Amino acid sequence: MSDLESFAINLAWWNGVVETHVNSSDYLTQAFRQGGDTLHPIEAEEIGDIRGKSLVHLQCHFGLDTLSLARRGAKVTGLDFAPNAVAAAQALAAEAKIDARFVQSNVYDAVAALGDTYDIAFVTWGAIVWLPDLHRWARVVAEVLKPGGVLYLLEGHPMALSLEQKKAEDPLVPGWPYFEHHEPQVVDEEGTYANKQAKLAHTRTHEWAHPFRQILGALLEAGLAIEMFHEHDRIAWQLWPCLEYDGDRMYRLPKDRLPLPLSFSLRARKPA
Ligand SMILES: C[S@@+](CC[C@H](N)C(=O)[O-])C[C@H]1O[C@@H](n2cnc3c(N)ncnc32)[C@H](O)[C@@H]1O
Repeated sequence: MSDLESFAINLAWWNGVVETHVNSSDYLTQAFRQGGDTLHPIEAEEIGDIRGKSLVHLQCHFGLDTLSLARRGAKVTGLDFAPNAVAAAQALAAEAKIDARFVQSNVYDAVAALGDTYDIAFVTWGAIVWLPDLHRWARVVAEVLKPGGVLYLLEGHPMALSLEQKKAEDPLVPGWPYFEHHEPQVVDEEGTYANKQAKLAHTRTHEWAHPFRQILGALLEAGLAIEMFHEHDRIAWQLWPCLEYDGDRMYRLPKDRLPLPLSFSLRARKPA
């Protein structure tokens, strides 16, 4: 299976879920339309003051977070490979009267597609699992940053992502690779993470696990300096049935289980 075939399979899935996600209560489209901000609490706190900064949101889906970052004062560009996502993002920007640019491209072709460099690259919640080669991705990130620019990355914790659970009372057991692998994991499921009942024309995706040695190694090899690294005890989606909603768009382990890291964030800087 070539990467291009995997991208085509994933593109069909992502293009097919846009309308469902725009209308899903998991995504705060309505709140956004009323002037709200859709960032989750971790990135909302960690992103800091972005007023006047140029920012590229890689794998921006239909642009809610991109446009929320614009409301925080950044000059934003979103990039995604799904045409339906880019069209929905452009429509939302026009409706909200927010000046934003959205570009349709595979993230691996972002340097040519964007034709620009940025103070901040923003990559969050469920982006790198779609990418077969993190070293190539990290080189793209480094190239789209201005000298002195930073990557903000917030993702599911690779160790947590390798564990699975069938029922809330079950133990957590290994169910997914932790270390990197060449052939993609093939997932074929009804529904999406934001709407389990959704009827999709394309149900298959190809995904890749990325251990920390690869995430951190790829960024270092691309010449970025890691300035901040955090592990968090909460995650933006219900990764396992036992996770409890915390009332603030995040899920945590119940108090009677030993705490585990569920997500991580980092900031990596391109030398000035
Ligand atoms: C889970 S979403 C990212 C969530 C994002 N944080 C948000 O604001 O909703 C993953 C996105 O990655 C995009 N994507 C997946 N593979 C891609 C690729 N190779 N190049 C560009 N975009 C890709 C999908 O179209 C989808 O919009």
